Amino acid sequence: MKPTIKAFVFDVYGTLFDVHSVKDACDEAFPGKGEDISRVWRTKQLEYFFWRHIMGRYENFDVVTRDALRYALAVHDVNSNKTMEERLIETYAHLNPYDEVESVLQKLTDHQTVVLSNGTDEMLTTLIQNARFTSYFDDIVSIDRIKQAKPSPASYMHWFKSSGLRRDEVLFLSSNGWDIAGAKNFGFHAAWINRNHLPFEQFDVEPDAVYDDLSGILEWVSPSSDKI
Ligand code: LAC
Repeated sequence: MKPTIKAFVFDVYGTLFDVHSVKDACDEAFPGKGEDISRVWRTKQLEYFFWRHIMGRYENFDVVTRDALRYALAVHDVNSNKTMEERLIETYAHLNPYDEVESVLQKLTDHQTVVLSNGTDEMLTTLIQNARFTSYFDDIVSIDRIKQAKPSPASYMHWFKSSGLRRDEVLFLSSNGWDIAGAKNFGFHAAWINRNHLPFEQFDVEPDAVYDDLSGILEWVSPSSDKI
């Protein structure tokens, strides 16, 4: 019997939207290198964000996404310029949602649904507006307001403190193992959206559920409306 969930809280990049949908634009600009540029871009984006947080030199997700792109282009020794970089950065506002996302969100309309992301307010509202998903969410929360990166406890507390809920009434969804570990560490239930069929991180917490895509979370939906 699943616990009663009163809020579904979603990570964004990699969970609702495919960060690697930038690879087509990267490939168009640098034929044959798109997939690897996209891979390095995402890896460095997270590394830079975490390193800066630990160093106490926080920069927002937009800044580190730009810095990570420049690294990915440099490591591939491609001829780029500001116009090209801006064109690639613009693709981050038009990432493809995964196929099942909208149909799952449509089944959650009488439950509280929240986005909690490392993205900036502007990145998130633009991306979600462009996908026409804004109406599916009760709140879109960026940790940039407190400059505390996920998976820090403060980042989950940033939304939770005003939720009026108990931690065990929240189901957190992410495709990122580090984010699931952070949400479990904070005390939420957490479902890992294991899109790449990977083993879970070697970490001293486990997800409460593992699904190939977001549709699995519907087994946590209780019949009554939980919207508070
Ligand atoms: C997010 C990505 C970074 O917070 O996981 O949306």
